[in-house]
Amino acid sequence: MFNDKSILITGGTGSFGKCYTETLLKHYSPRKIIIYSRDELKQFEMQQEFNAPCMRYFIGDVRDKERLTQAMQGVDYVIHAAALKQVPAAEYNPMECIKTNIHGAENVIHAALANDVEKVIALSTDKAANPINLYGATKLASDKLFVAANNMSGGHPTCFSVVRYGNVVGSRGSVVPFFRKLINEGAESLPITDPRMTRFWITLQQGVDFVLKNFARMQGGEIFVPKIPSVKITDLAEAMAPGIAHEIVGIRPGEKLDEIMCPSDDSHLTLEFDDHYVIRPTITFTSRSNNFATNNLGETGSPVKQGFEYNSGNNADFLSPQEITSFNQSAE
Ligand SMILES: NC(=O)c1ccc[n+]([C@@H]2O[C@H](COP(=O)([O-])OP(=O)(O)OC[C@H]3O[C@@H](n4cnc5c(N)ncnc54)[C@H](OP(=O)(O)O)[C@@H]3O)[C@@H](O)[C@H]2O)c1
Repeated sequence: MFNDKSILITGGTGSFGKCYTETLLKHYSPRKIIIYSRDELKQFEMQQEFNAPCMRYFIGDVRDKERLTQAMQGVDYVIHAAALKQVPAAEYNPMECIKTNIHGAENVIHAALANDVEKVIALSTDKAANPINLYGATKLASDKLFVAANNMSGGHPTCFSVVRYGNVVGSRGSVVPFFRKLINEGAESLPITDPRMTRFWITLQQGVDFVLKNFARMQGGEIFVPKIPSVKITDLAEAMAPGIAHEIVGIRPGEKLDEIMCPSDDSHLTLEFDDHYVIRPTITFTSRSNNFATNNLGETGSPVKQGFEYNSGNNADFLSPQEITSFNQSAE
């Protein structure tokens, strides 16, 4: 479905954007892939790696609606990946996080509508479900904007959906590179915030493949959540450095013991499919389908039990330390 299409990726120089670009170039023949981000050095470096004739590099900020509107001319699909995503930085610079993650989302929506873009998928995070930090709260607001945008599209064909997933193994600033650095430096123990802590676990490639698939599935208004395994943080430490001591350092501000992807308060809206969940919109769309039980690929989902919560702590699928090792190797 991406052959001969023009695709714009906000935050295209980030971990997700690069893997998405690589996958598109490997399996499809897009007309254009437009990388939209701020830093010229990251774009220059990406250009050395990805210089196919269909590649376009646009310097721009998602806070700049005019520039986004110009960049989306003739675009068929948009993936909105640009975000400020470090929890402590968001707490310390709240308005910067709000401007990028919320105002930026609003600008992406307006630019997509102005250009009659066919489909837009915005990336969300487990931290947006019952958020306790500003990063999560801004991503929840962004999710709400994208879902509601389906009611703004009026005569426009544009459909907006959200993909929400958890910790990407090895992404910038995450626990795997942090532990690896300490191990390489000869640390005798690894810092564990809380031995009860669990996280969802997904590779970048799995995240990319899930987003690609959802372009075919989406009708507009869904929050797509993949079924993925969980890990215990102590098992991760054991997998990366067997036998190493654990130093309990205490939970950090804005952190949860377990992450949630489908909150129990949304259970009346949640549908279970074979390999994913869909959280339906809380609002009704006036000019498009409100039946999310059958998606555009003909896959069918059924309502979950009232009170069901998809939580990294109650997940039926936990990786053992051995499985974490091979999972992490597959992510490299
Ligand atoms: N990594 C994870 O574990 C994870 C998990 C769940 C969801 N997500 C979501 O996935 C998305 C992508 O994450 P990632 O890991 O690829 O992030 P990343 O590696 O930090 O990349 C972020 C990208 O956004 C760009 N960007 C930041 N602010 C911008 C702005 N104001 N205007 C335009 N571009 C901007 C950055 O480039 P410049 O700095 O050059 O602008 C960079 O290209 C995010 O929405 C994140 O919330 C990530």
